[in-house]
Amino acid sequence: MHSKKRYTITAALPYANGPIHLGHVAGAHLPADIYVRYLRQKKASVIFISGSDEHGVPVTVRAQQEGTTPQKVVDKYHALNKKSLEKLGISYDIFARTSSPTHYDTATDFFKNLHQKGIFEVAETAQYYDPIHQQFLSDRYIKGSCPHCHNPNAYGDQCEACGSTLSPEELIAPVSAISGEKPILKSTKHWYLPLHKYADWLKKWILEEHKDFKTNVYGQCKGWLDQGLRPRAVTRDLTWGIPVPLPEGQGKVLYVWFDAPIGYISATKEWAKAQQVAWEPFWKDPNTTLIHFLGKDNIVFHCIIFPVMLKAHGQFILPQQIPANAFLNLEGKKFSTSRNHAVWLNDYLEDFQGKEDVLRYVLCTIAPENKDSDFTWKDFQNKNNNELVANLGNLVNRTVSLVHRYFKGIVPPNMHPSIADQTLLDTLTASFTTVGDEIEQFKFKEALQFCMGYAALGNKYLTDRAPWHLVKSSPEAAGTVLHIALQLIATIALLIKPFLPTTSDKIAIMLGLKSVGWDEVEIAHLVKAGERLAVPTLLFEKIEDAVIEAQRKKLENNYTL
Ligand code: 2FM
Ligand code: ZN
Repeated sequence: MHSKKRYTITAALPYANGPIHLGHVAGAHLPADIYVRYLRQKKASVIFISGSDEHGVPVTVRAQQEGTTPQKVVDKYHALNKKSLEKLGISYDIFARTSSPTHYDTATDFFKNLHQKGIFEVAETAQYYDPIHQQFLSDRYIKGSCPHCHNPNAYGDQCEACGSTLSPEELIAPVSAISGEKPILKSTKHWYLPLHKYADWLKKWILEEHKDFKTNVYGQCKGWLDQGLRPRAVTRDLTWGIPVPLPEGQGKVLYVWFDAPIGYISATKEWAKAQQVAWEPFWKDPNTTLIHFLGKDNIVFHCIIFPVMLKAHGQFILPQQIPANAFLNLEGKKFSTSRNHAVWLNDYLEDFQGKEDVLRYVLCTIAPENKDSDFTWKDFQNKNNNELVANLGNLVNRTVSLVHRYFKGIVPPNMHPSIADQTLLDTLTASFTTVGDEIEQFKFKEALQFCMGYAALGNKYLTDRAPWHLVKSSPEAAGTVLHIALQLIATIALLIKPFLPTTSDKIAIMLGLKSVGWDEVEIAHLVKAGERLAVPTLLFEKIEDAVIEAQRKKLENNYTL
């Protein structure tokens, strides 16, 4: 990777139909943030985009449940989710909204562009209709059994259990999600994106040219392409959404999955306008690397539908990577909004104030990078107490405290290091390449584990060399040990910066570390002999059983069958 390369990085836009939970964070937003923070340390030019997906049936369903309007729902959850994600340190350049005028214009122009090129197929078909509520039933307004995995709660557009994308007519025994009644069929006209016409192009682009996609992503794409693609309606009979910009489209809106990914482009425009820079290079320059971070239920939209839209439009670059994660479960069960089986991000931030990095750490260590994984409160406690407190926190605290105790807080010089000491310093330089390579391959879990390995190594080094004994016979030798331990800690602080930014900053303040680019680190000069260290502050604190028990009780009490 070369510095000053340009990147457009997106994290899937969460629906503004409820608070965001830990599954969303682990699936898309945290990995994207780690990657972006790393790119910034590499001094690349990067824009990091997300925002609220404010259209679609999930929003109107929530408004009905809460007895309010869709507008009030999106206003409330956009504000809540933006605040929570930013508090967790997810460092978007912009967290936009798909209700913004820029987005309406961009999505409308996009649709018109494809329409004028004659891309869409228009068809009048019989679709499910709820005669009681006098409403067509698309997407989440219709439920039934999945024809692939027989999940009884599949939606008209997607089965969340097996990830298949569906059309309402494929559902077995469909019922209206509004009235619970059997729907009738009624004729309606819609605009379709002819995915089948792009099948050969997609096969070449993904199956031949993107063998580098993660195995889970490549496998899902291959499955769909082998099954065969069909035209997909990009308009809906709904009132909530962006109106179809054609006289014959009156009373219809754009399908939410047509407008939402265009939200990445409109967000870029809004950001660029505020910065007074051009937005086009981030979406039109072939030298820009576009990467979408998302959860596995979004793969089809980012690998098939949006790329076909971009290709049909013709002016945009295509994603180079789509590192989708699998799902995070909670205490052995799926996260479920309807059953209230979730840890909401805003609740966590309130209950665990100042422990944002603890959550980032735990979610990264259990990230569902290749398969579904599980968050448990016990594991959260163990990782905090045994890894963050006892390993990393302990190393930093004891080293800085020893320098204060024996050297008045002044960094001792590196005098006559042994061969082993020198080898240790040399491996620190190499660690930036190792961790960088892992991050570039989206192996965040391994990268963080590697950094924590250095903390363990540091603790062992101190215990083996026992500077507290050595200081009696040879203050110089004890000083050298502490000098090397400080360089090791400084290295860890820089390596963990993308993962645990607040912790990294706290260590930097203690050591007086200057900000330095990922590729410009010179280990020997990170901490300089003769400089004064700040007083040590505690990086992490133990989490007691009672706190964990209370969280588990809260989950049990909230759970509805
Ligand atoms: O699954 C979801 O939560 C969608 N709102 C993700 C949209 S991603 C993008 F295309 F906007
Ligand atoms: Zn299924």
